[in-house]
Amino acid sequence: LEEKASLCSGETAWSTKAITRLGIPSIFMTDGPHGLRKAEGFDFTNSVPSTCFPTASALASSWNPALAQKMGEALGSESQANDVQILLGPGVNMKRSPLGGRNFEYFSEDPVLAGKIAIGFINGVQSQGVGTSMKHFAANSQEAERMSNSSNVDERTLNEIYFPAFEMAVKEAQPWTVMCSYNKLNGTYASENSYLLNQMLKEKWGLQGFVVSDWGAVNERALGVGAGLHLEMPASGGFNDKKIVEAVKKGTLAEARLDEIVTDLLTITLKAKDSHKKGIVVDKVKHNELARQVSGECIVLLKNDNAILPLKSALKKIAIVGDFAKNPRYQGAGSSQVRPTQIVNALNELQKMAKGTQFSFSTGYNTAGETDDAKIAEAVQNAKNSELVIVFAGLPDSYESEGFDRNNMDLPAGHNKLISEVAKVNKNIVVVLMNGAAVSMPWKNDVAAIVEAYLGGQAGGGAIADVLTGKVNPSGKLSETFPAHLEDTPTAMDFPSKDGNANYGEGIFIGYRYYDKKKIEPNFPFGYGLSYTS
Ligand code: BGC
Repeated sequence: LEEKASLCSGETAWSTKAITRLGIPSIFMTDGPHGLRKAEGFDFTNSVPSTCFPTASALASSWNPALAQKMGEALGSESQANDVQILLGPGVNMKRSPLGGRNFEYFSEDPVLAGKIAIGFINGVQSQGVGTSMKHFAANSQEAERMSNSSNVDERTLNEIYFPAFEMAVKEAQPWTVMCSYNKLNGTYASENSYLLNQMLKEKWGLQGFVVSDWGAVNERALGVGAGLHLEMPASGGFNDKKIVEAVKKGTLAEARLDEIVTDLLTITLKAKDSHKKGIVVDKVKHNELARQVSGECIVLLKNDNAILPLKSALKKIAIVGDFAKNPRYQGAGSSQVRPTQIVNALNELQKMAKGTQFSFSTGYNTAGETDDAKIAEAVQNAKNSELVIVFAGLPDSYESEGFDRNNMDLPAGHNKLISEVAKVNKNIVVVLMNGAAVSMPWKNDVAAIVEAYLGGQAGGGAIADVLTGKVNPSGKLSETFPAHLEDTPTAMDFPSKDGNANYGEGIFIGYRYYDKKKIEPNFPFGYGLSYTS
C-alpha cells in the first residue's frame, strides 16, 4: 500500500519516484510548450540550451497542424536527447479575453483550431517516443488568482467552448498525460474534480494516460485520487502519500481505486522506459532553420497599402527603428521560458539579405518600452533621411507573463509615440509587431503596412526578414480577435473575474501555490522540492 501511494507523487521538482525492487523507473518531465526548460530544481539560470520555437499564439496563426507536428517532432527529439520523458505542453486553454496573461502560451479562442493544432503538436512530440502533457484542464483562462479562483461555467458552455480542444486531442492524439489546472471549476478544485477528471477525461473521452497536477495544484490529496488525479507534482515529501494510505485504511478511499490510478501511472512510466532512445544528437543548426521556417508561416500581414511590401530592391535607404529589431522579444515569461541555442535578429538578417540597401538603425525606446525626446528626435531624423521606415514595436516582457493578466491592450506609450512621430515625417511606414496577444493600434491609419510577427522564437528575426524581403509569403491568419476596443469584447466588464472566494491576504504563497491559512495542516512540507520558500 505504501509503495503504491508513493507512486502518486513526485520525487523531486520534475521527476517521479522509482521503485528499484520492482524495476519501476523514474520519469523526468520538463516545460514547456515551445522548447525545453530542463533544469535541476527551480534554478533556470542554467537550464539546458534548447531551440526556442514560436509560442502558441504564433503557431496557431499558421493554421497548419502539419507544421505543429513538425515542430513537435523536433521538440520530441530534443527531449530524447536530454533524457526527458514528458514535455509539459501544449497549452490549449481558450482565450476568454485579450488580456489573459498566458494568451501567448495558448493557441486560440477557437476550440476547433486549438484542438487541431494541439493534435499536430502532440502527434509530433509523441512520434519520437516522448509524452506530452496537455494543459491546463480546465477553464483556466485567466491568471489573476489562478490558484483560488473558481471558473463558474455552465455545462453547455463547457462543452461548446472550454472542452472541445481537450476532447478532440484526447480522442485523436491520446496525450500521455493531461495536466489539471490550479483553479476550481464551479467551486471544486480541478485537482479533485471528479466531473472533469473521471467523467469527462477518462470515461467520456477515453484518456488512456494519466493526469498530473499543475505544479502545486493539489488540495486534498486523497480526494484527488478518488476524482482521478494520478500524480501530484512537484514532490510533497511523502506528506500526501501518507494521506492516501490513511484514507485507504479508514475506508474513505477504496484500495481498488488506488490500484486503477497506479496502473495508469505505471502504463505510461513503462511506455516511457520502452520508448527511450539512446544516442540522439540534436542538430542545432537544423532546428534553428526549422524554427525560422515555422516562424515564417506564423507571420500575419495585417495591412499592406499600395503593396509596400515586399521591400523593393530599388530602395537605397531604409530606417530601422525600435530596439526589438536588435533585441527581439521572442518568447513569453514564466514557466515556458527557455534558454535558446542562439538568437537571430531582424536587423542583421535584413542587412545580409538586402545587400543593395543601406539600413540605418535608431533604438527608439528602452527595454521597458519608454522613450524620450532625444530618442524620438533621432528616429525622426532617421525617418526623414530614408525612403521607407520599419518600426519594430510590441510588448516588453514585463507586459505579459504567466502569473498575471494585462490591464489593457495598449502597447507601451513609448512605442505608440515613436510610431506616431515617425509617421508624421514619412508616409512609407511598416510596423512589425512582436507580442504574444492582441494589442490596440491607435496609429493603424497612419502607417502603410502592419506585420504581426508574434513571439516568433529564437529565429523569429530571420523569419521577419524573410517576409519583409518577399522570400516567404506571409500566409498566417489570425487565430484570435484583435478587437478595436477592449470594450467590444464580451468579457470587458468582468476580466479578470473574481468569484468572491479568492481570499488572498488570509493565506500565504509558497513557491507557486497559495495556501489558505485556515486549511494549512501542521507539518506540511511547504516548498518541498522547491528551491525557494517565500
Ligand atoms: C504552470 C505550468 C507548468 C508548471 C511547471 C506551472 O506554474 O502553470 O504550465 O508546466 O508550472 O513549471
